[in-house]
Amino acid sequence: LTRASPHRPHGLWLIGARGSISTCVAYGLAGLNEGLLEPLGMCTERPPFERLGLVPLDQFVLGGHDVCLRDLSSSAVELVHHGILGSELIAAGAGFAAAYEARIRPGILDEPEVGLADLDPRSRSLGSLAPREQIEALRSDILSFKSEHDLERVVVVNLASTEAYRAESKAWSSLAELDGALERGEGLPASVLYAYAAISGGCPYVNFTPSRGAGIAALRELALARGVPHCGNDGKTGETLVKTVLAPLFTARALRVLSWQGYNMLGNRDGAVLADASHRETKVRNKNEALRELLGDPAVHTHVGIDYVPSLQDWKTAWDFIHFEGFLGAKMSLQFTWTGSDSALAAPLVLDLARLAAFAAKKGEAGEMLHTAAFFKAPIGGGTHDFHSQFRALVAYAEQHLGTPRTRN
Ligand SMILES: NC(=O)c1ccc[n+]([C@@H]2O[C@H](COP(=O)([O-])OP(=O)(O)OC[C@H]3O[C@@H](n4cnc5c(N)ncnc54)[C@H](O)[C@@H]3O)[C@@H](O)[C@H]2O)c1
Repeated sequence: LTRASPHRPHGLWLIGARGSISTCVAYGLAGLNEGLLEPLGMCTERPPFERLGLVPLDQFVLGGHDVCLRDLSSSAVELVHHGILGSELIAAGAGFAAAYEARIRPGILDEPEVGLADLDPRSRSLGSLAPREQIEALRSDILSFKSEHDLERVVVVNLASTEAYRAESKAWSSLAELDGALERGEGLPASVLYAYAAISGGCPYVNFTPSRGAGIAALRELALARGVPHCGNDGKTGETLVKTVLAPLFTARALRVLSWQGYNMLGNRDGAVLADASHRETKVRNKNEALRELLGDPAVHTHVGIDYVPSLQDWKTAWDFIHFEGFLGAKMSLQFTWTGSDSALAAPLVLDLARLAAFAAKKGEAGEMLHTAAFFKAPIGGGTHDFHSQFRALVAYAEQHLGTPRTRN
């Protein structure tokens, strides 16, 4: 007798399905399942998480929404040229990627982006529907995917381009207000409509982007009412990860940080989007907030500049300059340079988060997944930005589920 697998296949539905991160998720999964890659960058493959009985990686079926005409193979070719994906992986993942491409559905466009080049005309026509009907179309795509592939559940991850900054709105303050705005046909960020569709469809939701998504009060309320776990916002993959490791050092040693200047150069599509001031605003807010909290000084002089430098492609380079003061008024400085492939850093975190979200849903947990704060620049539900404290909370969560005592460190 063979032992039945405790898991039926799970869906992983990616919004921004043909973007760089999504493409790395697809080829990365194929490579892991073919034994061509090591699970580097994934904490769920290591102790204690690997004992939680998370969804096996070969049990994920991919689908998603995008608004562009570019197909997945063109995104993959770009990443080959950028030196991120190898040709052996492209050959091995071709079948898996083609099946995924066939499951990508036209998404809805955020209103300020109507001039987007390369726009799928089907997405343009979805944009003429009332917001309620747009939510209905998105939810129906996700739920059809679930039933067609007989999936136990579908985790939805937002990996779409960062939206233009929107100030808080009264319409987002409660579910009743949001439903009222939807009835009146008021314009809402696309990320909010996607998150509404996922959560109302009972799907765990992860917002890897700095866009609003399920972070607004109205959708946090919906998630609790619907019994759905969710987390976000804005994956902590590079410069901010290093910052949230380093900043507690200055606080613990009682050194006074005078200025913390950051400068990012990136050359991928994400960088092109962030070249626009209203999109950059969404991103920079998260980067500054973490630092101010960690240094305990809301007035510290800090600034992050972001420039689009096309020749760097996916290899984001960040330079940070920290000017600080010690005993006797001695002024000193620390500088670091980080060069990383943004998409290769992000993709394993997406797989970790998809598994953790599926696990939380299986355990009947609802609302914000506070234990996932280590993954985000602006964790929903707040808490410290200190990476090591956040990671300890994640380990404690796993140990609580395993019934083992906390590890000492
Ligand atoms: N790579 C990282 O380290 C990192 C870290 C934190 C956050 N992020 C965020 O993750 C997101 C994805 O990054 P990427 O490098 O893959 O970007 P990308 O530009 O390569 O991909 C984004 C994809 O989203 C699609 N898209 C745009 N608007 C859409 C909409 N309304 N609905 C559905 N699809 C839409 C685009 O067509 C594109 O295919 C960005 O918001 C980025 O800021 C990335």
